[in-house]
Parts: sequence; structure tokens; C-alpha cells
Amino acid sequence: MVRFGADTAGGLGAQRFEADIYDCEVEGEIPLGLNGVFIRMHGDWLYPPKYADDSFIAPEGYVSSFRFEGGVVDYKGRWVRNERFRSQLAARRQLYGYYRNPYTDDPTVADVANPHRRTTSNTTPVILGGRLYATKEDGLPHELDPNTLETLGPSNFGGRWTSQTFTAHPKVDPLTGETIAFGYEAAGLASREILLCTFDSSGTITHEVRFEAPYASMMHDMCITQSHVILPGGGLVTSPERLQAGQIHWGWDPTLPAFYGIIPRGGEAKDVRWFKGPSRGIIHTANARTEGDKVIMEAPMTDTNYWGCFPDIHGEAFHPARHLIRRLTFDLGSKDDRCSEEVLFPNVATTSFTRVDDRFTSLEYRHAYCHYSDPNRAFDGSRGGRPTGPINNCIGKFHVHDGAIETWFAGDTHSLMEVSFAPRPGSSEEGDGWLLAVADNLAERRSELVIVDAPTMEEVGRVILPFRSGKQIHGVWAGAHQLALTPLHGRIP
Ligand SMILES: [Fe+2]
Repeated sequence: MVRFGADTAGGLGAQRFEADIYDCEVEGEIPLGLNGVFIRMHGDWLYPPKYADDSFIAPEGYVSSFRFEGGVVDYKGRWVRNERFRSQLAARRQLYGYYRNPYTDDPTVADVANPHRRTTSNTTPVILGGRLYATKEDGLPHELDPNTLETLGPSNFGGRWTSQTFTAHPKVDPLTGETIAFGYEAAGLASREILLCTFDSSGTITHEVRFEAPYASMMHDMCITQSHVILPGGGLVTSPERLQAGQIHWGWDPTLPAFYGIIPRGGEAKDVRWFKGPSRGIIHTANARTEGDKVIMEAPMTDTNYWGCFPDIHGEAFHPARHLIRRLTFDLGSKDDRCSEEVLFPNVATTSFTRVDDRFTSLEYRHAYCHYSDPNRAFDGSRGGRPTGPINNCIGKFHVHDGAIETWFAGDTHSLMEVSFAPRPGSSEEGDGWLLAVADNLAERRSELVIVDAPTMEEVGRVILPFRSGKQIHGVWAGAHQLALTPLHGRIP
């Protein structure tokens, strides 16, 4: 087999194995209040990519879990055994080409009319109606067994989900238990069609609406308020011609505006209003709310192209972009279709991975959490080596109303992945709980799950893995009441 290149998985190599670890090694204390599971999705190449310049979000889907109960932790890691994975394992080689371009696939698997079949399912673990799904925005969600992580298969929710695609970032209304989700390129490659649905707390679709985006572009995340849905997008472009020419799915066009669809919850296609703003890279959001006629959203955004793997269509050279957390205001009482912007933390560049206490999604809130790189805290290359990717050494608690930032530093040989919030049982105060994030310990060549007390931003414990886990994309905490988890104690797995 062809060897993996040094840069195949973010400069640190692919993981490529499944694992079970019972009673993981622990430093410090595991809070007894952590009773549930921290689930993560990874992109991990099974075989080296067909094209060396393919996207870092193109690898196969892999899911891992840290199951917490009574102060002990079990770890499990499994491939997502979707059609793509099984086809390639059977053929014993890489069959699929560029990110979201089936025209570059091996003829034995190419299906340009049904591009969702080639999804890698590598982006976000999603809990919907008490079930666990592996999601990626180019295909249908795949249901997973929350205990074994076995792949149960793709789901179109009993035939009610009529888009070829499903977002990796649906949002749950903490007051009603409803889930709002959308799919873009819903009618196939480069289509402008969007499906937006509401699910009740049991996972049944109760409302749907279809409409078209201003132009076909990446629409990765969304926000909800108590009365509106916000769908951001723009900057990245695609077309049938581009795909038929064998190019990677997206190119960057800095001449196009960012766009933001504002839709009343439960509304119809005629109610959709598109706002626009300056060219922006917008991937993830923090939170949003409706205040009178105004819809207000916070999100990290860049001024220029974020994606080195998606080149400028005019041939401009790529320069790494900085994420700054911005507040966007959409005035529904005005006929002006432009939004206003405010940079909230102008001196701190973050990653795109803002998270909040999910019990406050759609509501007034105070804190966004995000891992980022503090350049004033030096990396110890004598022990950590020379990683080619960015070193994200801090978790920040960003106070969105007064500009304060509280920081936890991971250490001078550690690089963090996205943080997730786990609430303290019995508490309803925003931010009362723990922050969970996996860090690569580059000196020891292993991964460590750190547990930080969110109110004090002090570490309380960490779970040590005896290997370096593959590159995480997103993670989620699920309390034992959210999924049908089997107990750890009193049974042999
Ligand atoms: Fe994402």
C-alpha cells in the first residue's frame, strides 16, 4: 500500500485503528456529576487520498466515545461503516476522489445523480429524538448505536426528509425540545435548493419548507432564536461545470457578498428574507436571539478565505485568515437588506469553533467558549517537535456582553481540539458545568481529554489515552438521560 504522507491528517498522521479501553488512566478527579458520554467525530483516512491537495475535511468518518459513570471512564473508537467505507475496504484501495466531486470517483462507485451516497459521515455526532447520528452536510445522517458505536445505516426519517443532504449543525430549542435542521444542495450537486424542517422532541418532522439560496455556497452552520432561523452562507462557490471539470467542490470568490437567510420559525417560503454583508468566511456560529424587530447573532468570521484547500477562483494566493468573533444585527423593521457588524474581541483571533451552554441556545446568554492559539504562550519545540498545523493552546470563555475573556492554558506542548460543555446535574445557571476538550500532548505523542470547571476555568482532571487519537472535527456531551446508555458498573462490556 502507498504510504501516508506526513501531512495526510493535519500533519500528525492518520490513526487507522479501532480501540476499546476499559478504565482509562486518569489524572486528578473525574467529577461524579459527569454521568453520560462525550462523543466525537473524526476525519481519518482509511487509505491515502487520491489527490494530495484534497481537503482536510474529506477523510473517512470515525467516531469515538468517552463513557463516564461513577468516576471511571471507558473509551471506544470505531469507523463509521457507511457505503463509502465498506466499498473501499472491500476493494482494498481508495475509490473516491475530491471532496464532494463524484466526477473524480472510480467508475465502480461513481454516481453523480446521487452524490449523497459518497458521504464520509465525519463531522458531528448529533442526538435527535433520543437517537445518535453521524452527520456530514453532503449526505444523509447515519444512525449509530450509542453503546457499541456500530453503524446502523442512513436515515431519511421514515421518508419524511426529502433533501439529499442534512446539516452537521442542527439546533435544539431547549424550551420546546424541538430540533431545527436543514439541508442545502438539497436537490443535487450545485443546486440552490434548501430544505428546512422542524422535528418534535420524539424526532418526528412537524413542519417543512423549501426555498432557494441566492447562490449555491457552503452553508455549514445555522442559528435559531425563539422566533427565527438564521442560515448563513456565501463566499465559496461551485457549479456543474466546475465539478464536471474534475475540480474540488468549492472555490473562493471574494467578489460575492456573504448572505444570511432569516426565516420565521414555522414560516413559509414567501417569508424568507435574505440579508447580505461584506465578503466573509463564516463556518460556525455561537448563538442568536430576537429582540423586537432585530435578530442578533454572534459568530466567528474571517475577512478573507479560510480554506486553503478551496482556492480562489481568480487565482489569488492563499493567506491564512483570522477568525474574529463578530455580532451581526439584522433589522427586520428596515427595508435595507444589509446587516450591521461589530467585532467583539478585536485583539484575539480564535478558531471557528465557538460553543455555548446548549441549554441557552436561542436565548439570551453571556458566554461563548472557543479554543484558540495564544501566540504569547510559547510552544516548546524541544519536547513537542515541529508540528505543521496550528497549535491551539488555550480555551477561552468569551463574555459576549462586556468583552472580558477568561482563559485556560493547556501547556507548552499541547494543542487542543473543539471544546464541549457538560452541565452540572441539578443546576440551571448558564455555564455551571464542565468544559471537555481533547488535547494532543505532542511531547508524549498521546491524546488527553481535559476536564475544566467552567465557572472557575480551572482544570479538575484529565483522561489519558495511550495513543494519539485521530483529528477530531466536532464533539458533543450527552447526559445519561439523553441516550439509551447501558450502565458501566455491574456488567462486563
Ligand atoms: Fe462544523
